[in-house]
Amino acid sequence: MPCKSARKRVAILISGRGSNMAALIDAAKDESYPAEIALVLSNDPAAQGLNHAAANGVATAVVDHRSFGKDREAFEHAMQRELETHRIELVCLAGFMRLLTPWFVRQWDGRMLNIHPALLPAFKGLDTHARAIAASAKQHGATVHFVVPEMDAGPIIAQAAVPVHAGDTEAALAARVLEVEHHIYPLALKLVAEGRVRIDGSNCLIDGQPAALASTSSQQ
Ligand code: GRF
Repeated sequence: MPCKSARKRVAILISGRGSNMAALIDAAKDESYPAEIALVLSNDPAAQGLNHAAANGVATAVVDHRSFGKDREAFEHAMQRELETHRIELVCLAGFMRLLTPWFVRQWDGRMLNIHPALLPAFKGLDTHARAIAASAKQHGATVHFVVPEMDAGPIIAQAAVPVHAGDTEAALAARVLEVEHHIYPLALKLVAEGRVRIDGSNCLIDGQPAALASTSSQQ
């Protein structure tokens, strides 16, 4: 009998609301999805997403960065211990609001994904929606990429674009982008968990082809 390949054990790191986390948990409810969400880990005991994860039967853990003062490596070693305890194979950052040291990033080289609410390399950093509106961008969107020591850099796995409408508010644009985030993060994790993504220098190849912009485009 052919042996069904094991699903990859994934941890999602959150600091807040956790809507991308919820989208990943939902996707992984399908047994044919190649990853299982084995842990949701937060640096903030008050993160709203923790309740949703627990209500959906996902193990949760908190490593409160405030207990470590300025000692970022001690904080990250504590997170690393949690990840090892849960035998995690892939990490997804989903609104995780702590900068990571090169040490931690190296532990997860090629195995840690992040979602950023912009079409990288445009609008790295915070307040991406307000900045896209201020720059009169016609297109905006979201990117899933592998994490490298430089913030919001790293090989791109998936992107999706949305239009920026005249008179858009930051909230309206954020909602339009969030909708595609919830689509591309589960897609990107699936591709990585299936072993279909290869890092080639600063790019990703998917099934041997350059990663393409997802055609998802909200018409709202
Ligand atoms: C998302 O916009 C994500 O792209 C960014 O932080 C936000 C997190 O939102 N990295 P949520 O907690 O997943 O709802």
